[in-house]
Amino acid sequence: MEKLTKIEHIGIAVDDLKASERLFEMLLGAPSYKREEVESEGVLTSFFKSGPNKVELLQATRPDSPIAKYIEKRGEGLHHIAFAVDDIRAEMERLRSGGFRLLNEEPKAGADGKLICFIHPKDSNGVLIELCQDAPKSGD
Ligand code: CO
Repeated sequence: MEKLTKIEHIGIAVDDLKASERLFEMLLGAPSYKREEVESEGVLTSFFKSGPNKVELLQATRPDSPIAKYIEKRGEGLHHIAFAVDDIRAEMERLRSGGFRLLNEEPKAGADGKLICFIHPKDSNGVLIELCQDAPKSGD
């Protein structure tokens, strides 16, 4: 069975969300369809669609945000690739037992109603990988 079923979105770290939204609206030919703050991560996100694919722009909302630290170290740019999974706990266990270090031991709430987990970029050729599963809706 397929484990990581598709690229769910690509995350790009930006300094100025408003300016980058204008840029990506021009580039993709469609405006952002959603903005969402993830308080726990210290990020403000903005999502774009390009056909079946999504781009997530991320701006830090505080100096200790992982995005602020990332930009300080490496500048703006490609931050992570997110893959969809059907069962995030099973995938976390599979990857953990395969020697990948997970940046969070339990799935956490991400933007866009997802349960997410990040894998240490040192274990994937310098690319931060996000696993994401559609979170069960309340009432399900
Ligand atoms: Co993401």
